[in-house]
Amino acid sequence: MEQSQKKVVFSAIQPSGTITLGNYLGAIKNWQVMQEEFDCVYALADLHTITVRQEPAQMRKNIIDAYASILACGIDPEKSVFFIQSHVPAHAQLAWVLSCYTQFGELSRMTQFKDKSVKHAENINAGLFTYPSLMAADILLYQADLVPVGQDQQQHLELTRNIATRFNGLYSDTFTVPEGYYPKAGARVMSLQNPENKMSKSDTNINGCVHLLDSTDVIIKKFKRAVTDSEAIVRRAEGKDGINNLMNIYSAVTGLSDEQIENEFAGKGYGDFKLAVGEAVAENLRPIREKYEALIKDKAYLEESYKAAAVAASLRCRKTLQKVMKKVGFVF
Ligand code: TYM
Repeated sequence: MEQSQKKVVFSAIQPSGTITLGNYLGAIKNWQVMQEEFDCVYALADLHTITVRQEPAQMRKNIIDAYASILACGIDPEKSVFFIQSHVPAHAQLAWVLSCYTQFGELSRMTQFKDKSVKHAENINAGLFTYPSLMAADILLYQADLVPVGQDQQQHLELTRNIATRFNGLYSDTFTVPEGYYPKAGARVMSLQNPENKMSKSDTNINGCVHLLDSTDVIIKKFKRAVTDSEAIVRRAEGKDGINNLMNIYSAVTGLSDEQIENEFAGKGYGDFKLAVGEAVAENLRPIREKYEALIKDKAYLEESYKAAAVAASLRCRKTLQKVMKKVGFVF
């Protein structure tokens, strides 16, 4: 199939600290699979990251670490465009325009804004509020058909669709209206310690969150300590949040169905199950960690790669930005 006939995929991740198992199973694993079939553009959404205060030197380190980690996950610069958002000014430009086509009421309903306003009560800045307009710009600039994300981004994606449809309605067809693409298992990985909350790098309990670069020992320890219930039967059921979460994770890394998992652990205790999940996850992440360790030493390669990607991304989104500016009424 010719490049131009392939569906366009866009997704991004914030480089705000280490990448988690949730990020990997919810999104990045699909990024890697999709690059074999689709025309994929991926970004490190560093402009999004400053909606929460960052320490500059740490932020620079986080960006490079995240760039190397994602390459280590198998994102291949020969197959996908993988760039750093702040290197492509069109994102900030289109975000401003789209923020004028996004309603205050719509942004007020975003649950992530509400959650983050509580978490960062001392810094509820305008960027935190208008962040979904920037995310819409990211996606719409590339005329993306599909957006592989975890479930927590679904509301932002719905808003992106509304903004695109509204703009198209006002000015004739301009943007492709994108669809979300969620994994069967792994779309919502929960904390190992508080399985009613999503797994997140900001989890206050370090055992709740597994990081992509955690060692095998640490991963297995975290799974051994995972919160479960008192039933001691491995099966999916309401009220068994801990076990349901472990089954999702096991299914995402092994490809097994619920039934196959239940059969495998019939008559066995939670201890065996937790160990098996920990070992399977550790085995999945080990080659990524090894690749990361090699890549992070090669700063010249990383720089060459993200600079070339910024040029490629800028070229790809130029036409859409121009079209938007013309339609709105700016003079050329
Ligand atoms: P971010 O950086 O919070 O997360 C990156 C990706 O990881 C997914 N994810 C999860 N999936 C399953 N279980 C979890 N516990 C979990 N935690 C995170 C997220 O759904 C996401 O797919 N605003 C976005 C980044 C972004 C973006 C975009 C995404 C900016 N522009 C355009 C798609 C398209 C964010 O903060 O994701």
